[in-house]
Amino acid sequence: MSTAPLPAASGETSEPHHVAIIMDGNGRWAKARGLPRVAGHRRGADAVRRVVRGAGELGIPVLTLFAFSTENWTRPADEVSDLMGLLRHYLRSELDELHKNGARLRVIGNRDGLASDIVRDIADAEKMTRNNNRIDVNICVNYGSRDEIVRAARNLAQRAVAGELTADGIDEGSFERELLTAGVPDPDLLIRTSGEQRISNFLLWQCAYAELVFVDTLWPDFGKEHLEQAVAEFRRRERRYGGVGS
Ligand code: IPE
Ligand code: IPE
Ligand code: MG
Repeated sequence: MSTAPLPAASGETSEPHHVAIIMDGNGRWAKARGLPRVAGHRRGADAVRRVVRGAGELGIPVLTLFAFSTENWTRPADEVSDLMGLLRHYLRSELDELHKNGARLRVIGNRDGLASDIVRDIADAEKMTRNNNRIDVNICVNYGSRDEIVRAARNLAQRAVAGELTADGIDEGSFERELLTAGVPDPDLLIRTSGEQRISNFLLWQCAYAELVFVDTLWPDFGKEHLEQAVAEFRRRERRYGGVGS
């Protein structure tokens, strides 16, 4: 078996290179205040701004945020439309600040399901920020890990049918290169807010050895200090990758 290299099981846990976050709890934040769900999503967008800035200040090189899943289309149409409106607004209003702060933006997900103006804004934002190197900010929109894995398998099958590769030539490396995250290192730390303890179809392949940290804070209340606390928890973990550790 050919395997993608995993770090040695030294038992030492260094700083997380890649932090991924399932931003959850906007609806409950709003409900607790007697507000419509969209109010929670708006405050959630403020939290995105804070956390992106905080991650940069903490020297985290890669930050990936789960903003909208392939399953979130099942929500009421007005909520979906509010979320798409906020995404539109975010892409336009945050781009200058992201760029100024040296962030390279990448939007990860199936773009076929998105409105054409959003697809265009994403392409423009990615183009504008592509040479930045202070922090990589990946935002997952219309992202679902099972969908991603099925598409990767389909692409490889099509290439095999076309005679470009053999079945035996498929290994973890070639599979990874077909994923939407191609070129992005695996997350070291996965945080989920709002007290839920599940993955909800996020980065299933990529989080094979991520350290999971679940926090009760609702996403609109999450800030740099919560990120720091999660990183501190990460440092206390011993990563063994199936080995025996120290
Ligand atoms: C996260 O908050 C935002 C998205 C999933 C788009 P939710 O909207 O899931 O908030 P809760 O889980 O209902 O509180
Ligand atoms: C996961 O949250 C998706 C995002 C944060 C974008 P959900 O709120 O959709 O997940 P479930 O339904 O609680 O599993
Ligand atoms: Mg939720």
